[in-house]
Amino acid sequence: MAKILESLWWQRGVIYQVYPRSFMDSNGDGAGDLAGITSRLDYLADTLGIDAVWLSPFYPSPMADFGYDVMDYTDVDPIFGNLADFDVLVRQIHQRDLKIIVDFVPNHTSDQHPWFVEARASRNSPKRDWYIWAEGGADGALPNNWLSIFGGPAWEWDALSGQYYLHSFLREQPDLNWRNPQLKAAMLDVLRTWLERGVDGFRIDVAHYIMKDPFLRDNPLKAKAVQSLHKSLGEYDTQDHRYDKGHPDVHAIYKEIRKLLDDYSTHQPRFSVGEVHIFDWNQWARYYGANLDELHMPFNFQLLGVEWQARSIRRLVDSLEAVLPQGAWPNYVLGNHDESRLTSRLGPQGARQAAVLLLTLRGTPTLYYGDEIGMLEAQIPPENQQDPWGLRVPGLGRDGCRTPMQWEDSPNGGFSPPGVRTWLPLCPDYLEVNVKSQLSHPDSLLNLYRQLLMLRKSFPSLQWGDYQPLDATPEDCFAYLRTMAGEAHILVAINFSAHELDLEYPELSAGVVILSNYMDRDEPVHEGRLSLRAHEGALVKLAHV
Ligand code: GLC
Repeated sequence: MAKILESLWWQRGVIYQVYPRSFMDSNGDGAGDLAGITSRLDYLADTLGIDAVWLSPFYPSPMADFGYDVMDYTDVDPIFGNLADFDVLVRQIHQRDLKIIVDFVPNHTSDQHPWFVEARASRNSPKRDWYIWAEGGADGALPNNWLSIFGGPAWEWDALSGQYYLHSFLREQPDLNWRNPQLKAAMLDVLRTWLERGVDGFRIDVAHYIMKDPFLRDNPLKAKAVQSLHKSLGEYDTQDHRYDKGHPDVHAIYKEIRKLLDDYSTHQPRFSVGEVHIFDWNQWARYYGANLDELHMPFNFQLLGVEWQARSIRRLVDSLEAVLPQGAWPNYVLGNHDESRLTSRLGPQGARQAAVLLLTLRGTPTLYYGDEIGMLEAQIPPENQQDPWGLRVPGLGRDGCRTPMQWEDSPNGGFSPPGVRTWLPLCPDYLEVNVKSQLSHPDSLLNLYRQLLMLRKSFPSLQWGDYQPLDATPEDCFAYLRTMAGEAHILVAINFSAHELDLEYPELSAGVVILSNYMDRDEPVHEGRLSLRAHEGALVKLAHV
């Protein structure tokens, strides 16, 4: 057990993302809130067994992008409650020995933020340079060819002051200028405010966007469109986004943020995880910092787009292991509020394999609320759609993965009181797919997650051990060992095919299957051979240490 003590909570633990609007509505207005989250902490801590809760933004916002357009970084939007509710939530989280991570949105504010209102009022405003302004070209041409990821140009004309401002997302989300020292100081103060209120860490929204080319050069065009996410973004994908994000100066900012977090870590280790959608492994890994002095981790989104078969997944995991700077800690993500639902992407069998993979690979897993019960991507009728991205670019809407949590089969699924109109409709399958019913079925997906979470806690090698892939496996089987000196070794084997296969490995002899994703096995392995049924994933505790 000694070695595990060297690890930190964000390395040992499992992060669970709560989308506050959709987790639990305590006041019957159809939207989730902080008091609602507090009321469900027993579920998170005891029933499920996660370690840290990450809250998507709950700050005052006009909700053009559902809270990712912040109007005040240090308060709570009335829809979610108030600061007193937040303090109660933090206290209750800590009493249960959980950690709390909040979202930090550094790239842009809302256009209603007092900073922007002031900046926009005149070219001479002291806050003018807190945002990114540019002159138009001849004949009113745009300052350059940069595009908004949500569609259209990234520049909006401000008639009052006669300049354009930059918005990498909606026009209601003007980009901040991190090259301005006062703005940077104000943003670092935001971090201090939340640290002083007791938060354990930050999830940093589009972390790589905050530094752009100071000369605002045009992005080069690509001969052929290349996707920047796991979905096609149309015109956006025709550019090489060399100049509109990820300028190398970004690393100095994360060094500064890391120093600040380290300064606050004497009694309580603080943490940062960045949303970094960079799919070049080397570029991505730079966000750890050459001396592990930047982000504690950039989110690793590669599993979201991988071909769901043994060889590709193994290649992905091995590439990650190979690119990590010395001492850096890996992590995996299989869903979040921007991606279509895991069970819809992979199907029910794939979702069970995914649970095994996510919770047994070396690295911190991040779970998205509802994925533990297999919530599906909801089909939202056009009149109920909310996401501005989907409203602008049909097909890219993210409402389907943001529907209310399905707690039980009563009207509104235990999320809002019956009769209330919820902000997004529930996915109609909530009558069968809900927490209550899955708790009563021993082989449910929820019980698989609970078992996996429990096993992670019981076996230090799963939390903190080494990863060693097995080479001599059948084509469709991905198998690896998790080992730690002095602790039981665990072999994980996943069959990605629809047929049975045998994994032969001498050290399996006298091992014991401790879990199968079919939830029906706990038996010794004979003669070094493990038979896996179609789509089966299993954990075997090996006999030797
Ligand atoms: C991030 C968030 C996404 C938001 C965008 C703009 O990608 O995850 O939900 O729309 O940033 O803030």
